[in-house]
Amino acid sequence: MYKFTLFLAAFLSLFFQSAVAAPIQPGFRGNVTLYVKSDNPDIDGQTLYTLNQQEIGLNRLYIGNYVDPKSTFFLVNSAIYQEFSDNVKIDYYVTYSPEGYLGTESGSDGITITDYDASTGAFQFSGDQFLYAVHVVDLPAYSASQYAIQVHSPADAPEGSSKVELYGRLNWAVL
Ligand SMILES: *[C@@H]1O[C@H](CO)[C@@H](O)[C@H](O)[C@H]1NC(C)=O
Repeated sequence: MYKFTLFLAAFLSLFFQSAVAAPIQPGFRGNVTLYVKSDNPDIDGQTLYTLNQQEIGLNRLYIGNYVDPKSTFFLVNSAIYQEFSDNVKIDYYVTYSPEGYLGTESGSDGITITDYDASTGAFQFSGDQFLYAVHVVDLPAYSASQYAIQVHSPADAPEGSSKVELYGRLNWAVL
């Protein structure tokens, strides 16, 4: 896993440092619904949600038609997060696991969102061009028809995976 992490870091830094970016204004906070665009009609246009809010480790993002609250995300200056409270409010930032899965994690700064185009809903962040919907095969409770999102080199994208792009529909925003 360590080797893979190194590979992922090298891969990302090689391809994305030169991305042209206009950052989101400080103080901006928006409620966004995340969704994917894909050539695969089974998932095109479907929203992202989390199943769990574990305080330790990554809570993977899944693709499906699911509604609030687990599909509500907030976009700020340079990150996307979810907020849940039991007794205390906890923010879970959208980030990658060492295996490249996209999910939310508390205590993480999250991946840096370098640009958001509110008119198209397109995000710019490290790895945004190399995201794949992959079958969830490691959780017995979920059928192989469910998808998570993983960043991959196109050369070794998993069999049966579909390329996806991440978009956000802005429900409201304040400055
Ligand atoms: C965010 O927007 C969604 C969709 O409009 C809505 O269902 C949800 O209640 C909103 N959440 C907050 C905290 O405003």
